[in-house]
Amino acid sequence: MDISTKFMGCNISSPIIAGSCGKTANLDNIKQFEDCGVGAVILKSLFEEQISQEANNHMRLMQNAGEMIEAYTYIAEHTKHDNIEKYLNLIRSAKESTRIPIIASVNCVSASEWLQFASSIQNAGADGLELNMFILPTSINMSSEEVEQVYEDTVQMLRRVITIPISLKISYYSAALAKFCQKLSWMGIANLSIFNRFIEHDIDIMEEATKPVNIFSTENELYHTIRWTAILSKLINCPLTAGGGVHKEEDVVKLLLSGANTIQVASALYDQGAEFITKANTFLKQWMQEKNYHKLSDFRGRLAIDKNDKASTFYRVQYMKYFSGIE
Ligand SMILES: Cc1cc2nc3c(=O)[nH]c(=O)nc-3n(C[C@H](O)[C@H](O)[C@H](O)COP(=O)(O)O)c2cc1C
Repeated sequence: MDISTKFMGCNISSPIIAGSCGKTANLDNIKQFEDCGVGAVILKSLFEEQISQEANNHMRLMQNAGEMIEAYTYIAEHTKHDNIEKYLNLIRSAKESTRIPIIASVNCVSASEWLQFASSIQNAGADGLELNMFILPTSINMSSEEVEQVYEDTVQMLRRVITIPISLKISYYSAALAKFCQKLSWMGIANLSIFNRFIEHDIDIMEEATKPVNIFSTENELYHTIRWTAILSKLINCPLTAGGGVHKEEDVVKLLLSGANTIQVASALYDQGAEFITKANTFLKQWMQEKNYHKLSDFRGRLAIDKNDKASTFYRVQYMKYFSGIE
């Protein structure tokens, strides 16, 4: 059974991609993922604000120590450089010690200072760059068109800086998500990745303070991913990576049937370890054999929504007596 495919211009041996997360910031993990048969690895994101945040912290410390302003500036620059250098070293060492595509990742909210570093990422040998873009739509001063324009401008500016393939990882916050994704897919990106996941915040009522929760996904999140994969995969003009809620081996098959070209996995790498990749690859091959499929294209997208299909069950979102069976 041939489960090889393409991802961001590279041939990969499996459609399973290790998604950007803490695990992919570590070279030993990356090597282990390769040994377990992963198709590609997306490194932990370099955060736009992480760079400036760290620099600011140092500046505050220096201010407390009553240092000169030139010293603050020096430290800020040095810290920034240090962070980036570490990231570039991770790219270089991952490229040296593995044969799989190594995709860098930047988490950003706009086309700002971080763009300067995109060419260093390319020069360090990354096979591509995934842009994890997210603007929580809280502003009452920005229309939805203006918010969407920021994504488009950022991709356009990035394309002027680097020549390696770009993947865009987005969230589902958009009033016209399908149209928005289609528009983005026309902008020369090599891949669209759905969806970015957010941590939520609970409230500790004794402390009267917020606390982060739901760091890892649950199995139930898969259904949302399946729906949007089926809706988008035949609408967009570039390959689609689906991720979010993949915890069982069969989930990979489900997302391929929905039309995904590749599948991103993060939380399962925490709760089941790298072996999840081996198990999912084995299951995929066995399932294909049972079904008499020889390659992924024999069944990929079988349950994706065709452009003219107005009646897909994936479009149904409200409960009816008929569906819920609960009165
Ligand atoms: C601990 C952790 C850290 C993550 N860090 C990042 C990150 O730095 N950049 C990013 O694009 N996604 C990050 N993600 C999101 C994952 O790449 C993925 O999109 C999301 O978790 C959904 O996939 P899953 O259900 O397989 O976890 C992180 C996820 C987890 C669990």
